[in-house]
Amino acid sequence: MAWEHGSELVLPLSLAGGQSPTPWGAAGNYYGSGRDALRDLLRHGATVHGWKRLRVPFYFCQHVAQSAALELPVVGYTDTPELKEPDERELDVARGDVVLVPNYFGQRTSRWRLRGLQAHVIEDHTHDPWSEWAVDSTADFAIASLRKTLPLPAGGVLWSPSGRALPRQPSVTEERELASLRKFQAQSLKALYLRGASVPKQTFRELAVDAEAHIASGAISGMPAGTRSLLDALPTESWRRTRERNHAFLLERLSTLGWSVLPGEAGSVPLSAVVVFPSPVQQSALRAQLVARNIYPAVLWPLEHSVIPDIPYSARSFASRMLSLACDARYREEDLQRLVKELAAAANALS
Ligand SMILES: Cc1ncc(COP(=O)(O)O)c(C=O)c1O
Repeated sequence: MAWEHGSELVLPLSLAGGQSPTPWGAAGNYYGSGRDALRDLLRHGATVHGWKRLRVPFYFCQHVAQSAALELPVVGYTDTPELKEPDERELDVARGDVVLVPNYFGQRTSRWRLRGLQAHVIEDHTHDPWSEWAVDSTADFAIASLRKTLPLPAGGVLWSPSGRALPRQPSVTEERELASLRKFQAQSLKALYLRGASVPKQTFRELAVDAEAHIASGAISGMPAGTRSLLDALPTESWRRTRERNHAFLLERLSTLGWSVLPGEAGSVPLSAVVVFPSPVQQSALRAQLVARNIYPAVLWPLEHSVIPDIPYSARSFASRMLSLACDARYREEDLQRLVKELAAAANALS
C-alpha cells in the first residue's frame, strides 16, 4: 500500500460502525467544496454584517486564501501549529474584520477560544469536523471541507454554532457535478489499482488532477447529490476512532525513535502525524528518502507563492520543516508498523 494523503474509495475500508453526530445537525448548508462554503459565507457577511476584510493566519492554505480573496481582501495574523493559541492582542482587529480560526491538524480542543474579540469569528474545522471544539463551539460561523477526513469526491459544509442566519443554500453547478464525477472515477480506479487490477496509474492521476482543477473554481456550488449520499453512508465515528488509535500509535513509536511529532491536545483526534524537523534541509532529505520508498508525506502548506502579504519567518519556517503522515482509517496496525520501519530505515540512510 502506498502512503499518502488523499482518498481511495471505500473498497479497502471497513464499513462497520455508525456515524458521529455532526456539529451542524440538520442546520448546515452543503457545498461542492470547503472553498465554496467559505466564499458563500463571505459574500453573505459582506452584505448582511458589513464585513470588509478577512483575517487569516499567516500559516494557512494559500489556495483557500486565494479563493477567499475573490470575495474580500485577505490580511494575515500570527498563528502556527507550534503555538498553543494565537495572541489576541496581536490580532488587532479593525472595524469590518472577520477572523478565520482553523483547528490546525485537528490538534486543538475547546479549551482554547478567542475571548472578547471584537469581530465575528469563522472557525475552520476541516481537519476534524467532529471534534470536541466543533461540537462545543459558540462561534458566529464554522466551515469545513469534508474531503480531507473522508474519501468524498467533493464536499464542504457551513453552519452557525451560535444560531446566526445562513445564506440560501446554492444549487449544484455543472462544473462541480462533473468535477465530483471525475474524482469519483479516479478514486474508484485507484482503489482497483491498489487491489492489483491492471489500471494505468496515469488514468486515475489525470482524472484526479482534472477534478481538482474544477472543485472550487467558477460559481459557488452546492453539494452534488452523489456526494451527499456517500456522506450519509460512511461510518464516520468508527473511522475517526481508527484515526485516533493510529495517531496515538505513530506518536508513541516515532517519539521513541527520537522524532519530534506534534502531540495534539488531550482529547484531540489529529488529521495526521505531523513530524517537525530541526531544519528544511533535513525535511527535504528525509522526504526524498521516503518518496523512494513509496511513501508520500504532504507538506502543508507550501508558502513560496503566497497570497497573504508579509508572511513572517515563523510561518515559512514551520511549513518548510514539517511533514504530514496520513494515519486515517485506510491504515491498519500492520501498515503502521511497516511505515515506522520504513521511516527508521530512511533516517538511517541519511545518518
Ligand atoms: C484548513 C482547510 N480549510 C479549507 C480548505 C478548503 O477545502 P476545499 O479543498 O474542499 O475547498 C482546505 C483544503 O484545501 C483546508 O486545508
